[in-house]
Amino acid sequence: MPSKGRPLRIALLAHEFLISSAQRIEHYEIAAYGVARTFAEKLDQIAAADLLQETLNEEGMTDQHLTRLALRKINAEAVAV
Ligand SMILES: [Fe+2]
Repeated sequence: MPSKGRPLRIALLAHEFLISSAQRIEHYEIAAYGVARTFAEKLDQIAAADLLQETLNEEGMTDQHLTRLALRKINAEAVAV
């Protein structure tokens, strides 16, 4: 099977790098929102804690989407090269 070449492999690696970079940002946000939610709870700011938890849940879902994207689409394309 002929190789699609080095430029395509480099492009696929660039996509994986971008996804992993986005995931690092999501993990940072998860840590920050988790701490902020806990502080809000300790200060009896329940409405704020609830909003921060919603945001924390959204960040977690984004991280999961990025993981699925990396594992299913990009990695499969990299193997096919
Ligand atoms: Fe985010």
